[in-house]
Amino acid sequence: MAPTIEKTQVGIVGGGPAGLMLSHLLSQQGIENIVIEKRDHETIANTHRAGILETGAVKMLTETGVDSRVKTRGYEHEGIDLRFNGESHRINFKELIDATVWLYPQNDVFVDLAAARERDGGDVRFSCNVTEVLDHLTDTPKIRYTDAEGGEHEIHCDILVGADGSQSTCRRSIPKEDRSENFIEYPFAWFGILTEAPPSAPELIYANSPHGFALISQRNDEVQRMYFQCDPEENVDDWDEERIWAELQRRVDGPDGFQLKRGPIFEKVVLKFRSYVGEPMRYGNMFLAGDAAHTVPPTGAKGLNLAFADVQVLFDALKAHFIDGNSEGLDGYSDKALKRVWKAQNFSYWMTQMLHTRKDATPFETKRALGELNTVVSSKYGQSYLAESYTGWPHEN
Ligand code: PHB
Repeated sequence: MAPTIEKTQVGIVGGGPAGLMLSHLLSQQGIENIVIEKRDHETIANTHRAGILETGAVKMLTETGVDSRVKTRGYEHEGIDLRFNGESHRINFKELIDATVWLYPQNDVFVDLAAARERDGGDVRFSCNVTEVLDHLTDTPKIRYTDAEGGEHEIHCDILVGADGSQSTCRRSIPKEDRSENFIEYPFAWFGILTEAPPSAPELIYANSPHGFALISQRNDEVQRMYFQCDPEENVDDWDEERIWAELQRRVDGPDGFQLKRGPIFEKVVLKFRSYVGEPMRYGNMFLAGDAAHTVPPTGAKGLNLAFADVQVLFDALKAHFIDGNSEGLDGYSDKALKRVWKAQNFSYWMTQMLHTRKDATPFETKRALGELNTVVSSKYGQSYLAESYTGWPHEN
């Protein structure tokens, strides 16, 4: 059977937070759009990712009428602890630069956005597999997809957006000679857990130790999220609760006697990561946003925030294009978005290399890293640099 054919102004591949946020903003301006997503709602809602939102991301949710659950169920954090040599050093964002971040898990951001799209009659098609994107260099780029029942469809759009994550079909559809790939791999990964326990500390702790990095994060009063640096090939089945707690605890041990609050562990996962940027973020009439174009290691908590920053720039450009007939914003999209992307790459890389340990590190390298951590925490300017990058630069920059 021939595929069904539909027309829309903006065809969005990917219904994660970036794709849904863009769809939400476009619909508010009366710009038609259709979102195609491979996974089902439940799978995305149960995929645990990072949990820190910059103020700019929170504003995009609350000031555009998505939902204010982030404000009622999220937690505002005014700082973090950097812990090394067994001592904690608070970086007080509020006092240093009058900024804060919000602890609110990414899967809840997705749930809120999906609910807002449903409430507003948005066209979001879950469980639909994009088989091909084509005709990027024409005025009618197209999305071919198969629905859950095997039916074949084609969407003809004016503008195509690839917000389909790090395995992006859209990015891969750009001929190799028309894109450049920049990336580095790291010789470590994160072992993440979810545990039923109260918070161990009021704020997040980023810990460097001779045994490796650990992050003591949170979810709410009853559930906590924690990670420790591990081998990328680590198998979660080799780790029982006792072993996990011993490993986490020894990475935060110190003369202050700090003890993690323990509870039953109900999720264990190994997260591999790399730093990646595909350039440019445009090919003809297709534009890439979020993880489809770039990924960062989780140490800087930038992934979703960067995706939302892309969406803000792209939305402004699409609005000018469709409503005012001005395409300058679209022409400048890639350069503008990439400026922030490389700043976030720098910050995420810096945090990652400063806080993690390498098996093959020489004593010089280990001591140099401690010198770097000491430089940051002993200077108001060092602390402010971290605070400014962590809480996020204004969206115009
Ligand atoms: C998380 O809570 O999952 C989280 C928080 C901060 C990070 C990464 C992950 O940098």
